Amino acid sequence: MAAAAPERPGRDRSRLPASLQAVLRFRRLELDPTTRRLAHAASVADLRLMARRRLPRGVFDYIDGGAEDERTLTDNERAFAELSFEPRVLNGVGTVDPSTTLLGRPLPMPLVLAPTGFTRIADPEGELAVARAAARAGLPYSLSTLGTRSIEEVAAVNRGAKWFQVYVWRDRGLVREMVQRAADVGYEALVLTVDTAVLGRRERDVRRGFTLPPKVGLGTLVDGALHPSWTWRFVRSEPIRFANVVGRGVGDGVDAVSLADYTNRQFDPDLSWRDLDWLRTVWGGPIILKGIQCVADARIAADAGIEAIALSNHGGRQLDGAPAPARLIAPVVDAVGDRIEVICDGGIRRGSDIVKAVALGARAAMIGRAYLYGLAVGGERGVDHVLGMLDADMRRTMALIGARRISELTPAVVGRA
Ligand SMILES: Cc1cc2nc3c(=O)[nH]c(=O)nc-3n(C[C@H](O)[C@H](O)[C@H](O)COP(=O)(O)O)c2cc1C
Repeated sequence: MAAAAPERPGRDRSRLPASLQAVLRFRRLELDPTTRRLAHAASVADLRLMARRRLPRGVFDYIDGGAEDERTLTDNERAFAELSFEPRVLNGVGTVDPSTTLLGRPLPMPLVLAPTGFTRIADPEGELAVARAAARAGLPYSLSTLGTRSIEEVAAVNRGAKWFQVYVWRDRGLVREMVQRAADVGYEALVLTVDTAVLGRRERDVRRGFTLPPKVGLGTLVDGALHPSWTWRFVRSEPIRFANVVGRGVGDGVDAVSLADYTNRQFDPDLSWRDLDWLRTVWGGPIILKGIQCVADARIAADAGIEAIALSNHGGRQLDGAPAPARLIAPVVDAVGDRIEVICDGGIRRGSDIVKAVALGARAAMIGRAYLYGLAVGGERGVDHVLGMLDADMRRTMALIGARRISELTPAVVGRA
């Protein structure tokens, strides 16, 4: 039998006063910096602050900012804050099930990852990291037309539900080709963004002269030097470009462009309801209109046989003064909820916001910035962290308001704060 190891002097806690012994519990030192960072992020708001520190200011402002005075951006979140709950107690909430269906597909919770252009600016893995995290969580991922990973690259890492978001280029042949490519590799739905006739004036980007990718000048050099970990990853990875249109003569973003110049040059501002007929000829699957902002347009969409609408103002990045999606849910669902699925997009920062949106009648909620902050702070694991928090938040909120399943989330559970 081996002799017992002698007690090392440094470990002899008996020499410490008993009162100190009782309170001294050292946490194991976490050596992995990403794990350490994420362990300190208790909410999406925490991740936002961490992203602010980690990203160059121009990059953070591109993600975080909105149009003009950012009134709509602020209002998107405020609209959720102004709603409270009317909780019921003693309802036996030992098992809470937030699962649902969207466009006929079962989902573990009513959540979709929204399309965000130029995602690689937050982290070099970009769309691939987000698509992998979404697939792991069983949630639909929407790839932007202006993605920095291609339709095919994303499909290769995501065998789950994925949607392709379309901006309509003046060159319709290019749109037809992209839609066909998406169909060929298994995208399930098309998201047609309709709130971007012209690009909103994002004044943080204007002030900084922000371009995609960021142009190297004195300001960016200083900004980059102050954020060395982002800069190091950015310069080591392959150049960021609009991966879906590489080599198509429309500019793929490899030369620095202002997003406003680029989109105003390439996208068709004459797009109208008539173009939906054309889209139906090139796409046989479900269509989601993203950017519906009033009841009248929701009615036209339902009359046109569109499968779903996303109530959205582009996260406050387009028309400043547009209504907050949360305020539109009830009137829109009232008008067309029996004919079309309604998604609420904008201002979702907590699982309780998803619960409120669903209680008011939305089929699901969509998030943009929430996952981008996670991506900027912890890469793919940061996105996992956000999705995990929203899931836990949602289950906890449902338990606390006495709702066991989605069908029990009705307007009766929400009130005015
Ligand atoms: C950095 C960034 C890029 C975006 N790019 C696109 C895009 O390419 N296409 C699109 O339809 N919406 C885009 N959006 C809007 C999002 O899809 C979504 O509507 C918005 O982020 C929702 O608001 P939230 O950020 O408060 O969740 C973008 C949003 C952000 C923050």
